[in-house]
Amino acid sequence: MVSFPAMRLRRIRELESIRKLTRETRLSSSNFIYPLFVSHGTGIKEPIEPMPGCYHMSLDLLAEEVGEIANLGIPGVLLFGLPAEKDPTGTGAYDPEGIIQEAIKVIKKATPDLLVVTDVCLCEYTDHGHCGVIDNGKVDNDQTLELLARSALSHVEAGADLVAPSAMMDGQVRAIRETLDNAGEPTIPIMGYAAKYASSFYGPFRVAADSTPQFGDRRSYQMDPANSRMAMREIETDIAEGADIVMVKPALAYLDVIRQARDKFDYPLAAYNVSGEFSLVKAAAEKGWVDEKPITMELLTAIRRAGADIIISYHAKEVASWLQGQE
Ligand code: PBG
Repeated sequence: MVSFPAMRLRRIRELESIRKLTRETRLSSSNFIYPLFVSHGTGIKEPIEPMPGCYHMSLDLLAEEVGEIANLGIPGVLLFGLPAEKDPTGTGAYDPEGIIQEAIKVIKKATPDLLVVTDVCLCEYTDHGHCGVIDNGKVDNDQTLELLARSALSHVEAGADLVAPSAMMDGQVRAIRETLDNAGEPTIPIMGYAAKYASSFYGPFRVAADSTPQFGDRRSYQMDPANSRMAMREIETDIAEGADIVMVKPALAYLDVIRQARDKFDYPLAAYNVSGEFSLVKAAAEKGWVDEKPITMELLTAIRRAGADIIISYHAKEVASWLQGQE
């Protein structure tokens, strides 16, 4: 074992050129998926208060937005919809002319090469705000599966490239895979929100998507933040049911889970840098308490270092523009 003074670790930190060559982890615009919130109406670009820089956007403004995203080198967008109406079974989620289905068509027309990923869940579309159907005061797993599968198929029929079930119902990946296969869509991949925690970090998103549960909470279906072995079982199950990409969500408070998943599974791994993680940085930066650019780069680099291949982040556009010319 070589040690000081023969060994001096600072030798390879002295020059920026050497630091660049010995860097183990890199961020690239091609690591990112950027979430978008689409709404009805025209000319709407309404700021989402707790998520500075993010907007509710109507379909007529989408083409310009996705053009910008594609030009930044970001490979894909993840869509969330604000439906005109909500009901107990989340009909808007699988309406062939629903907000998401229409948004997909607009985006595929404007930027055919931009990957359109859809979040497959009912919570934005149900009047009670839960991710599934309520029966006897509880979220019913098996009745929800059919509606999730129907939603996913309607997205694919509208032109979605990748569907991402996030309701945390048991069997949701299998139900969607079967439905897509039976409908002649065996080549559409599924990204499972496999290890999705019941997290307080979703707070700003629920304002953005108007999807706060009207009673109770999501702890009967989303995971307990205290568990990591269970996360491995969730991921294993998603893979067994046919997931092509798996996800850990949130990211920053769960870097250990990302690392465990990376070591255990040879599947593409995504991490969702969720709304609360974004808002904390934005709020502190606004107060001048932290420097937004370096702190964001540090946090996102940590997610990659932990083992994520793909990062879903509200910071994606800013990061991509910061990286321009540097890659
Ligand atoms: C839908 C869904 C949620 C998020 C992504 N998909 C909200 C939730 O589960 O309550 C959260 C994303 C974020 O906080 O950025 N189920």
